[in-house]
Parts: sequence; structure tokens; C-alpha cells
Amino acid sequence: MTTAVIGTGGIGSVIARGLASGGETLRLSSADNESARMLAAGIGRAAVAAVDNRDALRGADAVVLALRFAVLKGVIGEIADPLTGKLVVVPSNPLSTDAHGNVSRLLPKGQSSGEVVAGWLPAGAGLAMAFGTMSADLFESSRNRSPEPAVLFYATDDDRAGEGVERLIRTAGFEPVKAGGLGESGRLEVGGDLHDLVVGPAEARSLIGGA
Ligand SMILES: NC(=O)c1ccc[n+]([C@@H]2O[C@H](COP(=O)([O-])OP(=O)(O)OC[C@H]3O[C@@H](n4cnc5c(N)ncnc54)[C@H](OP(=O)(O)O)[C@@H]3O)[C@@H](O)[C@H]2O)c1
Repeated sequence: MTTAVIGTGGIGSVIARGLASGGETLRLSSADNESARMLAAGIGRAAVAAVDNRDALRGADAVVLALRFAVLKGVIGEIADPLTGKLVVVPSNPLSTDAHGNVSRLLPKGQSSGEVVAGWLPAGAGLAMAFGTMSADLFESSRNRSPEPAVLFYATDDDRAGEGVERLIRTAGFEPVKAGGLGESGRLEVGGDLHDLVVGPAEARSLIGGA
């Protein structure tokens, strides 16, 4: 199947490599498309650099928006129509970093980023918050873990989006475990109790119930 990856920086590039190594066909785009072209060239035949963000969605079953939270709403506005009927996967943490490296949350405490992003999407798009639960380095080193696969947690309110994101998580070399609905997405973020964990399925399921 084909997935668009919009944003080919720190996390988008490792997600793309993981999906491609599991057999997914990719259409990539980024702000100036240079990083998308370089990533596509590095991946080889499984990936192409699209002309722009809308072109990335042509023929794609799903899209991963691997973007900083501050640009997400604008990009969703740019590509809104073709998102109807597609799985939309968002790994973004609602954070910003100032010139001194200080990190702050862009949403009020307790407000779920998943519910905010869902409000920006057109009706008919299926949202899953996923693929942002580990740092890029940890994601790379935990992929295809053996003998027991490492878990990637996800959150969604939509059963079809859940099935779609589970397939993508397995394709990338992880075992999917649902953390809850979009209201629970804070658990997956930086600072959340399920963030940056490398655990197997049994431990993951016990952690879900333990919040
Ligand atoms: N890096 C991690 O370890 C990590 C782990 C988990 C979650 N996350 C989350 O994932 C999100 C992305 O983080 P990141 O580290 O990957 O950021 P990043 O390295 O800055 O990459 C951002 C990507 O977004 C692209 N972009 C910016 N504006 C765009 C636009 N209008 N249209 C298309 N593409 C656009 C950039 O394009 P160019 O390449 O052309 O500049 C770049 O490829 C953040 O919310 C972060 O919290 C990151």
C-alpha cells in the first residue's frame, strides 16, 4: 500500500525508512522538498519525492504528518480536501523550543493534542496519534526487536483508523497497542507516562491500565 509522509526531518525520515523496509510504498514531501528528495534517493525504489504536499497524497491510502505542531494546522488547511476518507497519522508533540532551548507546551495543561488536531481535520478523515511516542534514535534502535517486538502506542477514536495505524505500526517493525481515545493522547507525548518506553506487549498492556 502507499503512504504519504509529509515532513522528512528528524522523525519523518526514520518513520519513512521503517515503513519502506516493511514493504510500504512512499510519497514524500517537505517544506522546500530538498530533504524529501534526499530521503527518497536514500530509500530507493520504494519512495518518490512528490512535487508538493498535495501531490504527496495522490494515490496514498494514508498520510503521516511528521511536522512540528506549530505548522500542522496550516498544512492540514492546504491539503484538507484530499484527506477525506484517508487515515491521518500524527506523531507531533504540542511543543515549541525557544532560542535558548527552553521547551514549552503549546496547549493548556490537560488539553489533548489529539482532540485539537481532530478539530482541524475535515469530516471523514480518520485520525490516529502515533509514531511520536519515541525519540527518533530510540525508534531506529527498537524497530524489528527480537524475539519480542517493541510496542508503539497509539490513540484514536476511530476503529478504521485504528486498523490502519496498526498495519502501519507492524509494517515499521513494532507491535501496536492502543493507549485509548484521542483524549488520552497526552500519555504518548513528551512528559507523558507512555513516552520513550521500550516495552513488550504484555508490559504495555499492564501500563495502559495503570494510569
Ligand atoms: N525528532 C524526534 O526525535 C521526534 C520524536 C517524536 C516526535 N517528534 C515530533 O515530531 C514532530 C516533527 O519533529 P522533527 O524532529 O521531525 O522536526 P524537524 O526535524 O524540524 O522536521 C520537520 C519537517 O517538517 C517539514 N516542514 C516544515 N514545514 C512544512 C510544510 N509547510 N510543508 C511540508 N513540510 C514541512 C520540514 O521540511 P524541510 O526538511 O524541507 O525543512 C521538515 O522535514 C514534532 O512535533 C516533534 O515533537 C519528534
